[in-house]
Formats: sequence, structure tokens, C-alpha cells
Amino acid sequence: MATAQSLILSEQFNFSIWIEANIADNANISIHCRNSLDILSKLQKQFANDDLRMTLAFGKVYWDSLGHTAEGAELKDFPSYGNGLAPATQCDLLIHIQSLSFDANFTCAQDVLSEFANDIIIKSEEHGFRKGESRGIEGFVDGTENPHQIDDIRRIAIIADDKPDASGSYIVLQKYVHNLNKWESFNINMQEEAVGRSKAENIEFTKDIRHIRSHLTRTNLKEDGVGLKIVRRSLPFGKVSAEHGLMFVAYCATLHNIEAQLQSMFGDTDGKTDLLLERLSTAVSGAYYFAPSIERLMDL
Ligand code: HEM
Repeated sequence: MATAQSLILSEQFNFSIWIEANIADNANISIHCRNSLDILSKLQKQFANDDLRMTLAFGKVYWDSLGHTAEGAELKDFPSYGNGLAPATQCDLLIHIQSLSFDANFTCAQDVLSEFANDIIIKSEEHGFRKGESRGIEGFVDGTENPHQIDDIRRIAIIADDKPDASGSYIVLQKYVHNLNKWESFNINMQEEAVGRSKAENIEFTKDIRHIRSHLTRTNLKEDGVGLKIVRRSLPFGKVSAEHGLMFVAYCATLHNIEAQLQSMFGDTDGKTDLLLERLSTAVSGAYYFAPSIERLMDL
């Protein structure tokens, strides 16, 4: 039975690092991946109380170059949604690190980047942190309706054992830059209308009173009566006096669920866009990745 990469299964983290890179030289990437797993094991012992975890995942161009046609078959380049409202900034490699400590994450990122060295070209790096009550910097609790039971997380985020890419996972990473001055110019009712939940008590608005463009209406989707679920691992990022917002990251056993939610948020389904995009935030990056199982990562 294949083993999923460790990060996917854990909700226990207060800090994350996301690094996206393009591959400059293919020759030793598989060795770097194997060595990065060794680095992770070594640091998991050194930072024994911090639940350090990492995902290594690949964009379509590099993944296809390996010739695993039946694995990660749904993977595609992020196409951009909503006529460019969700821009595409696809890269070859995603390094996603999370733990309870900033130090553990930083050390892991340092060691893994020195392993890959000049064989990759870094395109972006962001550091996320958890705020009290898991609120976003716009003030709403984020993650409430995420699957929390381990069996649900496995079923939703990880490809099933009978598939050729068993224990793999599809990932979306998008950086959202918030305009908090604009957001604060809307009163609480209008903020709550945009989200579809109350701000202080975090209570979900029932469907009959929810705005059709509220975030909950755009993302809580069903197809033939079945919920299109994903597992989110997002965190706030940024600086107080400069760019800040949400690094949105989600894992799923099928890219379809992620894409359906993006199409719905960005107006590609019915012409209606998510009110969060009008009142709070702008997507400035977007990429899809496939995280293979540990066994496949050891043998790319
Ligand atoms: C500006 C960016 C975003 C912000 C600030 C944001 C914030 C939130 C908040 C506050 C909630 C309600 C609490 C919860 O259940 O977590 C929520 C729910 C949710 N969000 Fe987002 N989100 C953002 C982007 C996205 C994107 C890009 C997707 C999908 C591609 C997404 C998918 C979901 C889903 C599936 C839910 C749960 C809906 C439900 O079943 O009730 N979000 N988000």
C-alpha cells in the first residue's frame, strides 16, 4: 500500500512556508527529492515536538517529462479563471512545509533549498502564520467546514488505493492579497454577507438568507447530490505595512472538485463572482501541482 506525503494528513500547524520554483536542470531532481525526504526525517527528530511536515509536488510540464501517464492524469497547468481575475503563475515544483514552529519550517526550507541548489530557480516564497481562533486577517474564522476527521481527510484529499497513483494528491496554491481598508469600509453586515457566516460567533447563514454571491454559496457545491469537498491548508501571510492576505492551498483526490469551486468563485459557471473578490481580495497567483506518494517520490 502506498503512503501519502505526511503534510496532507495533519491539521496541527501554526506556520507554513510555500516555495515555488522552476526546474533548471532535470538530471538530479529525483536524487534531490530522495535526499529531501532524508532531510525531513532528520529534522523531524531534531524538532520532535513541532510536527514538522513537507510536501513536494510537481507542475504538469515536469511531471509529464517523467512519463507516468496513468498517474496524476488529471493534472494540468493552471489555466486562469474569470477572464484573468484568477491569474495563472504555474511553476514546476512546490515545496510546502508546515509545523508548529517557525524555526523548524525555516530550517527545513533552508536545508531542502541547499539540496536542490542551482538545479531549480525560485519563483516565489511566502511564510504563513496562524492567527487566534484560526481567523484570517480580515477577521473571519477560516477552516470551520474543512474535513477534520482523519478518515474524511484521507477519503477527500488522497487518491484511493485501487488507483495507479494511489496516495497521491492534487494541490492548488493561490496567493490572495487583501485590501483591508476597502474591507473595513464595509459594515459588519456587508462583510458577513460576503462570507455567508457571522463574524464574531462564526455561525453559518442558512441557504434561504445567504447571498447568491457569498463565499459559502460559491464554494459549497454539489454535483448529482454529492458534495464537491476539498481539504484546505491555507494560512494568512504577509507584512502589516505591506502586502498581506491569504495563501490559499487545498488538497484533493480529484482536481475536478478544486476547479469547480474556482469556476464558481470567478464567474465561469454562471457569470456571478464571489463577493470576497469584490470587497476584500485579489488573486495574484495560481498554480496546480500533483503530490505523488512517498514511494513514487523515492523513485521518480
Ligand atoms: C480570499 C480568499 C479566501 C478567503 C478569505 C476565504 C475565507 C473563507 C472563510 C472565512 C470561510 C468560512 C469558514 C470555513 O468553513 O472555513 C471559507 C469557507 C470555504 N472556502 Fe474559502 N476563502 C478564500 C478562498 C477560497 C478558495 C479559492 C476556495 C476554493 C477553491 C475556497 C473554498 C472554501 C470552501 C470549500 C469553504 C467551506 C464552504 C462550506 O462548505 O461551508 N475558499 N473560506
